[in-house]
Amino acid sequence: MAIREYNWTFVASSIESLGFGNYDIIQAELGEKTICIAKYKDTLYAFQSKCPHAGAKMVMGYIDLQGNAVCPLHRFKFSLKNGYNTTGEGYNMKTFPIEIKEDGIYVGL
Ligand code: FES
Repeated sequence: MAIREYNWTFVASSIESLGFGNYDIIQAELGEKTICIAKYKDTLYAFQSKCPHAGAKMVMGYIDLQGNAVCPLHRFKFSLKNGYNTTGEGYNMKTFPIEIKEDGIYVGL
C-alpha cells in the first residue's frame, strides 16, 4: 500500500491568530489554494473551501452539533473527520490533515 506524502504548509502561528472570532469556520489562503478550517470541540479540521455539490462557499456555512460542516446553500452535511456526506446525497468533501507543531499550525496538502 502506498503511503501518501503530504506537503505540510504553514497556516498560522497559533489558533488565536487564525481569527475565528465568533465563527466556527474560517477560510485560509495557502499559496494558490483556498481551504476552510473549522474548530469543533477544541479540535481543528481542514477541508475544501467549495461545496462538492454545487460550489457554495463552505465558510458561509456552519458546524452542527454532531461535527458536520453544513453547506449554506442546500444544507448538505459533511463529516469534519473524513468528508463523508452524512445526509446521503453522495457528494463527499475533501479533507486535509492538520497538525499543531511547536512553531505553528500546518495543513497537509
Ligand atoms: S452547494 Fe452545497 S449542498 Fe448544494
